[in-house]
Amino acid sequence: MNQLLVALDVDTVAEARALADQLRGAVGGFKIGSRLFTSHGPAFVEELVSHGDRVFLDLKFHDIPNTVGGAVAAATRLGVWMLNVHAAGGRAMMRAARAAADEEAARRSRPAPLVIAVTMLTSLDQQALGDIGLTAPVTEQVERLAALAHAVGLDGVVASPHEIEIIRRRCGSDFTIVTPGIRGPADAQGDQMRTMSATEALAAGASYVVVGRPVIGAGDPRGAAERIAAACS
Ligand code: C5P
Repeated sequence: MNQLLVALDVDTVAEARALADQLRGAVGGFKIGSRLFTSHGPAFVEELVSHGDRVFLDLKFHDIPNTVGGAVAAATRLGVWMLNVHAAGGRAMMRAARAAADEEAARRSRPAPLVIAVTMLTSLDQQALGDIGLTAPVTEQVERLAALAHAVGLDGVVASPHEIEIIRRRCGSDFTIVTPGIRGPADAQGDQMRTMSATEALAAGASYVVVGRPVIGAGDPRGAAERIAAACS
């Protein structure tokens, strides 16, 4: 199975569609985040799903359990393959997400989407965590939230390259770990601080890697995706 997910981080459906058309067959799925979703809503998700694409809806839901349950049910109706919530929303919120995905999928006789959790945003360093009253070391906080997501029956977590091993050890081999922050030796780091190559991340235990700019910003996006996918297999 192709473990490369490409982030369609562009502003317009026209750009996203052109990329998806170029990359289809060379990648394992597409990630749609709040940027594209906020401008163009669910129609584009449905369009990709109708092509048979696997869509990871990266909207990081974080609200009271009833509201998150409703949002997860709506995403399940769109036919997404994977979606995420913030683990910091707590046990009851994650349980509501799990239940909504399972119940809505059962109603439609289709497989439930993978429901994964964001542990700590990688943009938060120790000082930023201190600002919001979290004094535990980042890795301890990540491990705690991953273990909670696992305990309530979520399928996995989003994890930075350097958190993979600790989560894999704590949550076992069936837990899905999705890792952004992927860069090859020739790629610009951009705003990603701690990166790994796709091969290194998968060797460390990632289930999927998410790659944005090194593919969508390349002169030949399909060639770039094929090179990364080949290095992963
Ligand atoms: O362009 P780049 O490869 O850095 O894109 C990585 C993608 O993964 C972006 O869509 C970014 O929002 C997302 N992401 C991330 N770090 C996280 C969570 C998500 O880079 N911790």
